[in-house]
Amino acid sequence: MNDTEKLYMKRDWYENVEVLLSVDKIQDRIKELAAEITRDFQGRDLVLVGVLKGSFLFMADLCRQIDLPLSCDFLGLSSYGDHTETSGVIRITSDLKRPIEGKSVLVVEDIVDTGLTMQYLLDNLRTRHPADIKVCSLLEKPARRRVETQIDYLGFSVPDVFVVGYGLDYKGRFRNLGYIGHLKNPDGDK
Ligand code: IMP
Repeated sequence: MNDTEKLYMKRDWYENVEVLLSVDKIQDRIKELAAEITRDFQGRDLVLVGVLKGSFLFMADLCRQIDLPLSCDFLGLSSYGDHTETSGVIRITSDLKRPIEGKSVLVVEDIVDTGLTMQYLLDNLRTRHPADIKVCSLLEKPARRRVETQIDYLGFSVPDVFVVGYGLDYKGRFRNLGYIGHLKNPDGDK
């Protein structure tokens, strides 16, 4: 365990979180994804579109590992409210600040669960005429997929459990964990 990992692992105030993906494992995988993206997007006008809020840490680490000129923009989406099940009704809570017409868009998402959010987002972005759209998701839960979903770069598949940490939340909390864990009893930690 290196110093960074020790620092993040000290954050054990939450008794209900069981570690699934350690700090090192996440950071090593991000380097691999960034190397692939760096290879694939040579010479393109690349814009990373981070889906708020869950992807903010992933976006920060991923963009610094991509060895290309690029720009970053963010889009806020909401579908969960304070529940662990999607409502299926997706809303844009904050839009991109610049047009993406003619650009190579890489959507950066924390997790694809049912796939409904990604389907809605891609349909919406396509109407803005980018040159192409690819998707990079840190996590996916294949067991819960309800619609066919495009994922071009995937960090990890996780089992059908509610996960928190490294940007992912439950009722707004747990985002500042450096690792990703299984929240065993959602309302156990106040
Ligand atoms: P989907 O529309 O069901 O694919 O859900 C996508 C969004 O739901 C993600 O961007 C997350 O914000 C949230 N989400 C889905 N599963 C989890 C989870 O296990 N923990 C935290 N957030 C989740």
